[in-house]
Amino acid sequence: MQNKEIRLASRPTGLPAIENFQFVDTETPPLGEGEVLLRSLYISVDPYLRGRMREGKSYVAPFELGQVIESGGVGEVVESRSATFKPGDIVSGYLGWRLYNVAPDQQLMRTIPGVSPSTALGVLGMPGLTAYFGLLDIGKPKEGETVVVSGAAGAVGMTVAQIAKIQGCRVVGIAGSDEKNRYLRDELGVDATINYKTTKDMFSALKEACPGGIDVYFDNVGGPVSDAVYPLINDRARVVICGQISIYNSDKLDVGLRPQPFVLIHSALIQGFIITQYADGVAHLAQWFTGGQPKHAETIVDGFENTPKAFIALFSGENLGKQIVKC
Ligand SMILES: NC(=O)c1ccc[n+]([C@@H]2O[C@H](COP(=O)([O-])OP(=O)(O)OC[C@H]3O[C@@H](n4cnc5c(N)ncnc54)[C@H](OP(=O)(O)O)[C@@H]3O)[C@@H](O)[C@H]2O)c1
Repeated sequence: MQNKEIRLASRPTGLPAIENFQFVDTETPPLGEGEVLLRSLYISVDPYLRGRMREGKSYVAPFELGQVIESGGVGEVVESRSATFKPGDIVSGYLGWRLYNVAPDQQLMRTIPGVSPSTALGVLGMPGLTAYFGLLDIGKPKEGETVVVSGAAGAVGMTVAQIAKIQGCRVVGIAGSDEKNRYLRDELGVDATINYKTTKDMFSALKEACPGGIDVYFDNVGGPVSDAVYPLINDRARVVICGQISIYNSDKLDVGLRPQPFVLIHSALIQGFIITQYADGVAHLAQWFTGGQPKHAETIVDGFENTPKAFIALFSGENLGKQIVKC
């Protein structure tokens, strides 16, 4: 079958550009035993993919030049040599940026019936689990505590904010537009928000939003936004380092505030994590979700050909909630 795929043509310098990607016409290979042919329905574009476009060792291997980009995806089985899946089944897995993928059945999961299959890439997928485990296992929020989350209107951030509310916390969200912040307050019940793009003094804004100090900081962005948090942490505060999107397009080591004095005098904890270290938590998340919480938002970009554009848009914050491409 005629196919199309998107390869890494060159390594980005700074912000990725369309020219870093190459569209190539190919054909699907024949199916082996236990494999299925999937028609792509949704492709997930994620900030961490930027790290895989850089040369050098990270927690995941970099993409080779000329390699097909891979990320989470949802597809419909159109042909099957698997005993597990039949044509018409909707599955999710780690897939190539292709119109059609051939994949072994062990690497695929059926999407949860009764909810949009795209949620497998967002609230009920990797970003949702990142929020769930990062906040509950490392952040350990307690009722009445103040939780600050940066990147609050993104896929991970908005789930963190809502799980923190479920835990009975006061939640302060930091995001890059008034519209996103309005959504956080009006739709998700976030107690206070800060627009880091228009606020001149992040420290003062945070101090005002957190009169009792900060007990948990869920850091999705790093950089100056996070620097403003440390002077306000409370005794035994927990700082969850989930992401550092503000520096993903930089090749230089980032220099900012030294948080050690604040960590020392407040006996605080700073811990990073990678979601692949955690086992499955989808069942509990799905149970909450079907009960009405957490809510989720998706920004759906139409058309396979717009996948690179949708990825690049993550760095200017064009998405509210999970950024997904509909093929
Ligand atoms: N540790 C893990 O295992 C793990 C797993 C998944 C994701 N993550 C990380 O979690 C973070 C959020 O991921 P996501 O998938 O939920 O993405 P996302 O938040 O849905 O999308 C990225 C958002 O980052 C914000 N942003 C972009 N450039 C920024 C900058 N320079 N400073 C501050 N904010 C900036 C933008 O929102 P604004 O409009 O607010 O600027 C944009 O919408 C990322 O850092 C990601 O790498 C980590």
